[in-house]
Amino acid sequence: MEAGYKILGVKFALCGLFWRIPGELKLLDSLSHDPDKLPLEHAFYNTCRITEALNSITPIKDSEHFMVSAFIDHRLDGVIRVISIISRNHLQPLYCVYCSTEQVCKTVHTDVQIHRDHFGFPFHVSDVICKGRHMQNATHVLISTKDSDNNVTEYLPIKNRVGMNTFKYNFTVCISTLFGNYNNVLQFAQSMEMYKLLGVQHVVIYKTSCGPDLEKLLKHYETEGMLEIVPWPIDQFLNPSSGWKFKKHKGDIHYYGQLATLNECIYRHMYQSKYVLLNDIDEIIMPYKHANLPSLMKYLQSAHPRVSVFLFESHVFPTTQFEESGKFKRAEWNNIPGVNIMEHIYREPDRKNIDNPKKMIVNPRKVQKTSVHSSLQKYGYIHHVAFHVSRMVHVRNPMQVNLTKEQLFVDKRMWDFKQKLIPNVDRTLKRSGLLRPH
Ligand SMILES: *[C@@H]1O[C@H](CO)[C@@H](O)[C@H](O)[C@H]1NC(C)=O
Ligand SMILES: *[C@@H]1O[C@H](CO)[C@@H](O)[C@H](O)[C@H]1NC(C)=O
Ligand SMILES: *[C@@H]1O[C@H](CO)[C@@H](O)[C@H](O)[C@H]1NC(C)=O
Ligand SMILES: *[C@@H]1O[C@H](CO)[C@@H](O)[C@H](O)[C@H]1NC(C)=O
Repeated sequence: MEAGYKILGVKFALCGLFWRIPGELKLLDSLSHDPDKLPLEHAFYNTCRITEALNSITPIKDSEHFMVSAFIDHRLDGVIRVISIISRNHLQPLYCVYCSTEQVCKTVHTDVQIHRDHFGFPFHVSDVICKGRHMQNATHVLISTKDSDNNVTEYLPIKNRVGMNTFKYNFTVCISTLFGNYNNVLQFAQSMEMYKLLGVQHVVIYKTSCGPDLEKLLKHYETEGMLEIVPWPIDQFLNPSSGWKFKKHKGDIHYYGQLATLNECIYRHMYQSKYVLLNDIDEIIMPYKHANLPSLMKYLQSAHPRVSVFLFESHVFPTTQFEESGKFKRAEWNNIPGVNIMEHIYREPDRKNIDNPKKMIVNPRKVQKTSVHSSLQKYGYIHHVAFHVSRMVHVRNPMQVNLTKEQLFVDKRMWDFKQKLIPNVDRTLKRSGLLRPH
């Protein structure tokens, strides 16, 4: 794991200037007359001991809580928002200490916003908002349980300091929490290649752990540049649940901290990606009327200009039912572990009185807080995308276990991509060292 600290070179060089200041902190009277001053706010020289947390999960000293990532929120007068994991049973006042490049730091009160979708788990994603305005010039922040005499040196770098209107990517997929010995290589490669054909440029995965073959595939996609892997060692800090409901599945936190990763992913891509897709690796948001995601979203966004969250129905293609011809049972893939999505073209019907779960494509600049199947706080409107326009293909074990083939619908949309998909998957498997070249 990448746990550890990096001493910031520049700041280290400046340290000599400050060594003679006695004690850890010194109050700066001139700066305490800030017009935005809060009763408790004070500024001080930092002792040049800013170190940057390199781990994506950082314990908050003298508490049960953790900080994850810090961002400027330009929609809220440039406040600092720290995505955090808060122990709901140990609430206490928290403070932000934020510093500018000049190594002048300020301590301010915070507003701790625990997201409402905690499903009963004791730890949950929260936004710790540093109270004040116009913090865009701050470079580092930490959360503290003390309002003074801070002796913590592990700061988070502050991201999104400059808002932008042009984006490196049009479509980014956020895949939350890869964990256990997950080794479904074939489906992973097929999904990634399908995303590419659909117009996705960037995929982010929060990785706790995975199986040995999948490790090779991840390396390949990371080297190639499509995939960004964020280490997510949640199991080093908490006992993560592999389920979604505390009463049923127990554990400290919902589904390996999925909700922290999804929210982090949205802020991480706010100025990097025009759209963000929030789905799992076994899920493909599939256009049925358009050739790809750019033309689908162009159509949807011009029909619904004020919409910022598009919802897509999930439809299960059970891995227990195989297409009859066997034409996709390719010898090349025989030794590749995992599901071959091209063999699964049978779709489960809708269930009476049960809504299909939904996944989302969002404009990240319009979302404040997200859940898995809906957004919790956003600017703009929601649109449920019609079944015949686009829906999500979810190849997985059946939800409706007793249905026969005759009770399922044939849906061969994925086959429309076979001509490019198959050679692309083969090439990827070869380059990952998983398929021997002949
Ligand atoms: C941020 O820094 C710039 C350049 O040094 C300065 O002009 C601006 O006033 C600063 N903004 C705030 C809010 O301190
Ligand atoms: C601050 O922490 C360092 C090491 O973590 C320790 O050596 C030092 O005594 C502490 N200072 C205060 C004032 O608590
Ligand atoms: C994003 O889409 C625009 C057109 O809508 C296109 O000009 C641009 O090249 C695309 N960006 C990427 C990274 O593909
Ligand atoms: C499926 O069939 C089995 C055996 O007939 C039965 O025990 C089970 O309750 C059925 N499950 C559902 C969800 O209908």
